Amino acid sequence: MKAIQDVVHRKPWVGWLLFFATAAVVFLIGLLAASIVERRSESVSMRALLQPIPEWEMRGEVWGRNFPRQYETYARTAQTESFGIEPFGSRILDYLDANPSLVVLWAGYAFSKDYNECRGHAYAVTDARATLRTTTASPGVCWTCKSPDAPRLMAKLGGPAEFYKKTWVELGPEITHPVGCRDCHDPATLELTITRPALLEAFWRAGKDVERATHQEMRTLVCAQCHVEYYFKKEGDYLAFPWDMGTAAEKIEAYYDSLELADWTHGLSRAPMLKAQHPDYELFLTGVHAQRNVACADCHMPYRSEGGVKFTDHHVRSPLHDIAGSCQVCHREKEQVLAQSVTDRQDKIEELKRLAEDALVRAHAEAKAAWDRGAAEDAMRPILTLIRHAQWRWDFVASSNGVGFHSPLECARVLGTAIEKAQAARLALARLLASLGVAAEIAPPPVGYKAGAQAAIGLDMEKLRAEKEKLLEIIAEWDATAAPVER
Ligand code: HEC
Ligand code: HEC
Ligand code: HEC
Ligand code: HEC
Repeated sequence: MKAIQDVVHRKPWVGWLLFFATAAVVFLIGLLAASIVERRSESVSMRALLQPIPEWEMRGEVWGRNFPRQYETYARTAQTESFGIEPFGSRILDYLDANPSLVVLWAGYAFSKDYNECRGHAYAVTDARATLRTTTASPGVCWTCKSPDAPRLMAKLGGPAEFYKKTWVELGPEITHPVGCRDCHDPATLELTITRPALLEAFWRAGKDVERATHQEMRTLVCAQCHVEYYFKKEGDYLAFPWDMGTAAEKIEAYYDSLELADWTHGLSRAPMLKAQHPDYELFLTGVHAQRNVACADCHMPYRSEGGVKFTDHHVRSPLHDIAGSCQVCHREKEQVLAQSVTDRQDKIEELKRLAEDALVRAHAEAKAAWDRGAAEDAMRPILTLIRHAQWRWDFVASSNGVGFHSPLECARVLGTAIEKAQAARLALARLLASLGVAAEIAPPPVGYKAGAQAAIGLDMEKLRAEKEKLLEIIAEWDATAAPVER
């Protein structure tokens, strides 16, 4: 040290030399670290495609010739099992059976006929074909988030508007591949890409450009093409996201109110209702993980190592099946503790959800009693608005996936306002009913079991199933005569 000081003292330029040399070394170390941290680096080498992929290649197995690990894990989405309830393979959890109150909440709307828990991506087309909700009258736009055939057909038909206009049965024969590689990847570069116009359009209207999204944002935005709230515009069933006033439950509610949009008129209360789809992305945005820049793919598509090769696990499913890969990358707690932190939050959200459901079921029945007693339209209007808003907010949480885990605090807040509005409607109804001479409590509709609830709201399930049988025959015909996909 003394020697260096002596040299620097005698020849000051040596000091400057040391300074610049140190700076250069630090810079080089920085570059090295950045290239290690940059997650894309390892996938870049894989992009030297063994076999080029055509623009509209739909088949995962063909993509898989280049990327066997991604394809193999992707194919495992066919083994979907649900966590918690006991592994039940690809069996379906019937939500209406598990909770018949739902039948009453959706009286007059297709969801009261049939509503199951979602399954793995491999089932997207199968399940859309099988549900009693799809009929010969269903619009073609429903296919948009089920298959990469949707963007392929949009291109073929000359634009999304042409696609959205078609009926479900018209498009059906050409929708054969479930959610797949082409939904999230550009076949030429393998980069993540947005294939659904509604997301691009919502960004444009907000003055944002998806092209400028960071790589980490894209790891969420590819999911936000489908796992979002959406609606169909009156003209041509044009698919759009209702985000122009914001993405919070009450902002979307205000937006729908401004359009005077109603998905249906409730079978009991006659309230002009809204059905939430699955605002997974919108709720996720309000949670701590999104705020800390964690992406959907971080938890649902963790990195995996096989024979020294690091790749993205494409078996998209509940992260609770792989807590080590999904959570312990960032959290140090034991698996059991992490799983518990999820179920604890979900149980609390479930508790509030049930309170909202109970209040809403009663509000619908009480509104019906008021109508039956000759309540005036003017007196009912503000009450029906309360019911509309209460149920929308409940549904915003109930229909989103993950039972509130993505943003527990926001879910609790939204459910809190749902309960408050439903009870305000009930209070007003109690006063109105009293003025009509009804003092006794109105009995809620029977919600003991699914079939009973369906009968109580006047659904003829035999007839619906017979109609579905006919549609399934048409679908069998599609498969029998399926033309090879043009490319
Ligand atoms: C093209 C539309 C589309 C895209 C893109 C998409 N999903 Fe899905 N996802 C679906 C559909 C449809 C289902 C329900 C399938 C069913 O029930 O048959 C689903 C189901 C799921 C499930 C439930 C799986 C199970 O085992 O129950 C998870 C988890 C999921 N998606 C996460 C994601 C994540 C994370 C992304 C982004 C990396 C993503 N999805 C991208 C349409 C999509
Ligand atoms: C739901 C969206 C989605 C689907 C469907 C999908 N991927 Fe991916 N893929 C991703 C995401 C997210 C990543 C991570 C990208 C990153 O961080 O660079 C990824 C990464 C990749 C990579 C880069 C290497 C790696 O493992 O990180 C390859 C190759 C790949 N996917 C191939 C496929 C193939 C083949 C299919 C169809 C069998 C497919 N992907 C289906 C979303 C998807
Ligand atoms: C990429 C990193 C990352 C991953 C992966 C991740 N987390 Fe987190 N998590 C965070 C950060 C950062 C926070 C915020 C903690 C803080 O800032 O104090 C957080 C917070 C939490 C919280 C407290 C949040 C709240 O709302 O109370 C829970 C619980 C949690 N994580 C569970 C999980 C579970 C379960 C998984 C896997 C399914 C997971 N995390 C995956 C980074 C991650
Ligand atoms: C911090 C980790 C984490 C992030 C980030 C995350 N999720 Fe989840 N997700 C979970 C957990 C935990 C569950 C609950 C799983 C369960 O109950 O078995 C879940 C559940 C789901 C489900 C239902 C799966 C099932 O089997 O029922 C879907 C769909 C889903 N998430 C989609 C998304 C989408 C889309 C994003 C991004 C917008 C996202 N998730 C971001 C951890 C995460």
